[in-house]
Amino acid sequence: MIRAGACAAAEIAENRMSQSENAAPAPAKRAPAQPPAPLALSINDKPYYHEGDPQMPLLWFLRDTLRLTGTKYGCGVGACGACTVLVDGKATRSCMLPMQAAAGHSVTTIEGLETDALHPVQQAWIEEDVAQCGYCQAGQILAAVDLLKRRPKPGEDDISAITNLCRCGTYPRIRKAILRAAALAQGQGK
Ligand code: FES
Ligand code: FES
Repeated sequence: MIRAGACAAAEIAENRMSQSENAAPAPAKRAPAQPPAPLALSINDKPYYHEGDPQMPLLWFLRDTLRLTGTKYGCGVGACGACTVLVDGKATRSCMLPMQAAAGHSVTTIEGLETDALHPVQQAWIEEDVAQCGYCQAGQILAAVDLLKRRPKPGEDDISAITNLCRCGTYPRIRKAILRAAALAQGQGK
């Protein structure tokens, strides 16, 4: 009995050893995830860095981080144009532009449009008394700035191609203001 018990114990010990030899190796320890590199961009001629989610829309960075609240949130899906800013001079829906895509570019918001004097588009907007509630107007003005850069003497079709929406229906005054701004810009050589 004693011999049989000793044999069984030896067999169990051998089985355990062979099981531990066959066991899967412990997973290698992973290095902790590195935070994404900061994204650099220029806004109204000043450098800024974003260290958060690279997919966050530029609109949130402007409004929530920098408190540049002239740029408005309307639809959030690229349809209304309330969030329009200039990216390298081109009218862009900032609700649709991830920070990753904005990095390395130059952004102008309504707060940065005026430099030493009102931009001709701002001046024309005042002279034509365009705004009603005002919510869409920053986007409308920046869309007009982009248009006049591309078409210094815009026709009706050019103006109609602007897709920014205005719930107050200020479209007739927007048209007149764009034409006035074109005249002002030519007179001012801008
Ligand atoms: S909020 Fe960006 S297009 Fe409407
Ligand atoms: S002025 Fe009110 S939405 Fe355009």
